[in-house]
Amino acid sequence: MIISGNSKETREQIKEWKKQGLSVGLVPTMGYLHEGHQSLMEAAKRENDRVAVSIFVNPIQFGPNEDFASYPRDFGKDAALCESVGVDLIFHPEAEEMYDEDFCTYVDMDGLTKELCGKSRPTHFRGVQTVVSKLFHIIPADRAYFGQKDAQQLAVIKKMVRDLSMDIEIIGCPIIRETDGLAKSSRNTYLNAEERQAALVLNRSLAAGKKMIEDGERDAAKVKRHIEALIAQEKMAKADYVEIVDFSDITPVEKLDDAKRGEVLCAIAVWIGKTRLIDNFIWNIGRGQRTSGQDYEKRSMS
Ligand code: PAF
Repeated sequence: MIISGNSKETREQIKEWKKQGLSVGLVPTMGYLHEGHQSLMEAAKRENDRVAVSIFVNPIQFGPNEDFASYPRDFGKDAALCESVGVDLIFHPEAEEMYDEDFCTYVDMDGLTKELCGKSRPTHFRGVQTVVSKLFHIIPADRAYFGQKDAQQLAVIKKMVRDLSMDIEIIGCPIIRETDGLAKSSRNTYLNAEERQAALVLNRSLAAGKKMIEDGERDAAKVKRHIEALIAQEKMAKADYVEIVDFSDITPVEKLDDAKRGEVLCAIAVWIGKTRLIDNFIWNIGRGQRTSGQDYEKRSMS
């Protein structure tokens, strides 16, 4: 397994593989890898001849009062996991390698980024799009893999790739959960035992919202209110947002059946103490909950 912090060297290696006719899958991460990331690497491994993983805690996607400094890091453990999955290359740059002192070029978007996480994290997606664009230039892969847990991020990256005619296929992969339902996240590590228990309210409230839809409810406001009420019952939890949006453009819907491409995203962000966690489900009108992330996506979003 090659480990490099150098952009030029990394690009040369990827180009060399492409010259040999090998396909390359990229899994962009901020490290502190867990089973969610592992599932992305495994998907990349199944579908490509070579797999590259980037590990970079991207400073420009964190707001001034967010957890950039305390974001968990453990490169040794991450490298061991990558090795065990059969990853071929880890790109692990220093911040100076990615951002010159006079760096001033950003990738931004008018739509999709204003709702949900964009409301409380106004510069977050600009930072994500910028770093992902840079990664796509440094690692010109055939496919890149992202988790559905960050559903808005996935939609934003797909749109950026379409709008900027980037030559890469974006693959969305299903959310991986702990056995009790909590979505895997590097930030779960911030939770103490009591908060960890309280965090189950995310999946529990979403499951209740999903049940309402399964039972025929199509009024988004009613489903939203039900989820909000369940979150409010958990003393340690405070909702940042509960939203139901059209998954194709991340705009609010009144009736679920109004979704332009037939899919709505029900997404929540909840503070558990000082930790902000997100979770969601995607509902396909006619098919029900999306479970096999990528097949649906290729049909409905490409
Ligand atoms: O999802 C993440 O871990 C990050 O937002 C990403 C896509 C690696 C960009 O820094």
